[in-house]
Amino acid sequence: EQIFYITRHGESDFNVIGRIGGDADLSPRGRKYAERLTRLFRENPQTLPGPQLIWTSELQRTIHTAEGIPGPRAAVNDLNEIDAGICEGLTYEEIQERFPQEFAWRDQDKFKYRYPHGESYLDLLQRVDSVVQAILTKTQVLVVSHQAVLRCIMAYFMGTRPEQVPYINVPLHTLLVVRTNGYMFEVEQIPLKV
Ligand code: G3H
Repeated sequence: EQIFYITRHGESDFNVIGRIGGDADLSPRGRKYAERLTRLFRENPQTLPGPQLIWTSELQRTIHTAEGIPGPRAAVNDLNEIDAGICEGLTYEEIQERFPQEFAWRDQDKFKYRYPHGESYLDLLQRVDSVVQAILTKTQVLVVSHQAVLRCIMAYFMGTRPEQVPYINVPLHTLLVVRTNGYMFEVEQIPLKV
């Protein structure tokens, strides 16, 4: 049996004001999540054996979420959040206002819609493919990444149909514990109060 861990970064300053993309750091609540997560591993070595390898994205909010957890780590480019291209740093209201056609197109086909100068969920599925294969060949990896990327990674384990991938619920401030025999995947959610 193999076990690995998946989590979104703690809440960021951009999450608080509803902006997407960018490289904002953790909010005070997000920092609290980082502490709670560190404590969770420290206090439950039997049921949640500490990660032997920590993979974050290259963005501050994931690096700082994993900061207190002991173990070797790497910042992986393929774990960076979906590139929203011309919409980076905007709120959804601003996108609708400035790029109404883009907003409508995305609403019509969120899976295949590609942000101008950015990416689609279909692009992301391909981008994370090698990460998924790598997770399965290592022991006890902790992946700290972002909502859209983790939807794509979880889709592999849950067998989600492509069009449904952009709507998978990956809750904030929750550790996903995945146990597998290499064939079937069982996901346990551990929400942490912050
Ligand atoms: O900032 C991007 C979000 O994590 C992705 O959200 O694909 O539902 O707009 P969305």
